[in-house]
Amino acid sequence: MIVPGSSSQLLAAALADETGRRLATPTYDRFPDGEALAAVPDFDDDEATVVATTDSDAAWVELLQLQDAVREAGAERVTTVVPYMGYARQDQSFGDGEPVSARAMARAVSTGTDRVVLVNPHEPAVADFYDAPVETVDAAGVLAEPLPDDLGEPLFLAPDEGAIGIAETVRDAYGAGETDYFEKRRDRETGAIEVSPSDAPVSERDVVVVDDIVATGSTMSESVAVLNDRGAARVFAACVHPMLVANAVTKLRGAGVDRIVGSDTIERGCSVVSVASVLADVLA
Ligand code: R5P
Repeated sequence: MIVPGSSSQLLAAALADETGRRLATPTYDRFPDGEALAAVPDFDDDEATVVATTDSDAAWVELLQLQDAVREAGAERVTTVVPYMGYARQDQSFGDGEPVSARAMARAVSTGTDRVVLVNPHEPAVADFYDAPVETVDAAGVLAEPLPDDLGEPLFLAPDEGAIGIAETVRDAYGAGETDYFEKRRDRETGAIEVSPSDAPVSERDVVVVDDIVATGSTMSESVAVLNDRGAARVFAACVHPMLVANAVTKLRGAGVDRIVGSDTIERGCSVVSVASVLADVLA
């Protein structure tokens, strides 16, 4: 059975459709003292695929509870699909006394599963933190589907060098266009982003800015603003994980984005494409 976390119900349902597996109906409750209680009262299978994005601390707790609940209900084999792995940006200790949070989360999840599937983790190396076997999926190609067919001299641009791989994946899936990347600097104290234009000409061209995550929207909105200043025709924002916290959407609109395109690894209004078919291939 496919067992969804509360934040991954649409993706889990799509995955059930893709794989022909049954979809469980967990309950997500809370005790008066605030403690969570996620349960799977209708679980009756030997195998469980828990699909739970971890975009909040509560979601991590829920994931651990769902893993334990299906074991308790008789699952002999548990696969854990983490569509968006939170804490993956804390993949090292950046200062005195700081934890490697991605490692702490990975170890906790590994105790309750036989296998882990990650979708575009921010740093591929976080897979090494898991004690259970891990498969990492690049689902960025689905972001090409909702783009207009008539992009003019398209440029697929990563806001920093680290995202050039997924920009290339989206360009390849689209079937035409160039790729390039900006240089990015982030002030760790203020979070302020500065991007330096690449040499690629953008005037009168359609540009798709591709990133793994849009969180505060600072990186993407700075990139969009620079491209509009330089005369781009249309600027699209495409990301695998549309976290979009606080005023990220309005920042992007203010910067003049034409459209925001995200996947359902984090379910938001702009999650117009699903990674379910990519996951189904891995789970087959
Ligand atoms: C950073 O390396 C990531 O690829 C994203 O660019 C970053 O996490 C986006 O964060 P924000 O939306 O807060 O600028």
